[in-house]
Amino acid sequence: MSQIKDKILVIGASGQIGVELTLALRKMYGNQNVVASDLREENPLLKDTGPYVSLDVMNKEMLHVQVIRQNITQIYLLAAILSATGEKNPGLAWHLNMQGLLNVLDIAREEQIHKVYWPSSIAVFGPTSPKINCPQQTIIEPITVYGISKYAGEFWCNYYHNRYGVDVRSIRYPGLISYKSEPGGGTTDYAIEIFQEALDHNTYTSFLSAETYLPMMYMPDAIRATLELMEAPAEKISIRTSYNISGMSFSPEEIGKEIGKHQHGFTMQYAPDYRQAIANSWPQSIDDSVAARDWGWKPEYDLEKMTTDMLENLKKNRQ
Ligand code: NAD
Ligand code: SER
Repeated sequence: MSQIKDKILVIGASGQIGVELTLALRKMYGNQNVVASDLREENPLLKDTGPYVSLDVMNKEMLHVQVIRQNITQIYLLAAILSATGEKNPGLAWHLNMQGLLNVLDIAREEQIHKVYWPSSIAVFGPTSPKINCPQQTIIEPITVYGISKYAGEFWCNYYHNRYGVDVRSIRYPGLISYKSEPGGGTTDYAIEIFQEALDHNTYTSFLSAETYLPMMYMPDAIRATLELMEAPAEKISIRTSYNISGMSFSPEEIGKEIGKHQHGFTMQYAPDYRQAIANSWPQSIDDSVAARDWGWKPEYDLEKMTTDMLENLKKNRQ
């Protein structure tokens, strides 16, 4: 159950996950108790739903001032550079993904923030990790700067928990599919673009090859997983790096066929680019049995149910 006295800061609230997570948190904790923040302007979907502050997570002083001024007790840190954009500017991705996290963890320790949420990714896994049902603990040798930063971040979370008692929790999200806010430069973004293009042009050219299987999840499942993890009693949390969670796995060809059931005559072409190598390095499916055991994780959406819901909502948004 939500604790009424908690005051939450969401950093990166105008992004793909941030918008939906902020709205869900406002529902649980009350609009005034969830402060949205971002480097860019407030997302239109957040307008008039609660407080918004302009904030750069790299500016530790400014962040610290906001945490004190707003009496913040929980922080959700979503600001990051994702896998595809990260490969274009590895230095910047490393800097933001690491320093942003360290700034938040330091302030959480100093101000005795009750809980911190920070997402990791399936991008921690690399070509030497098992491809099918990739376990919670396994060989982890990421090849992207994004994956390296997420893996290092997981160990910083574990360190701050063990050494300073910071209650920081994390999930390794799969590729997230949503219709409310735009994706932010990931390798799995094709699975969102394909819906837009299907409705606009009834055809899509995928930047990943036909048979590239990847772990994916529909946003409602991802938001619910996040809230369930954050609401779980601390003694249930055995993983202080980051939890594997699983939703569904499919290839561009398979999602194309599923969309074709709704959009007659939908066609696909394939023109793999630099993102193919990133996708090839990741597992095809994820073993989430530890999350299921610890805090009862169970996905609701499969490919069929997600496709129907995505198309219905995208069509509604266009009316
Ligand atoms: P996004 O790019 O859509 O959103 C990130 C937000 O952070 C943006 O609104 C951006 O303006 C903001 N931001 C960037 N630099 C900032 C700074 N210096 N200070 C404050 N805000 C800043 O990303 P997303 O998809 O919402 O991802 C959120 C988190 O979830 C990231 O840590 C990402 O690695 C992780 N994740 C996402 C996915 C996915 O499929 N979307 C999958 C796995 C993990
Ligand atoms: N969806 C993300 C990406 O492709 C995975 O972390 O970067």
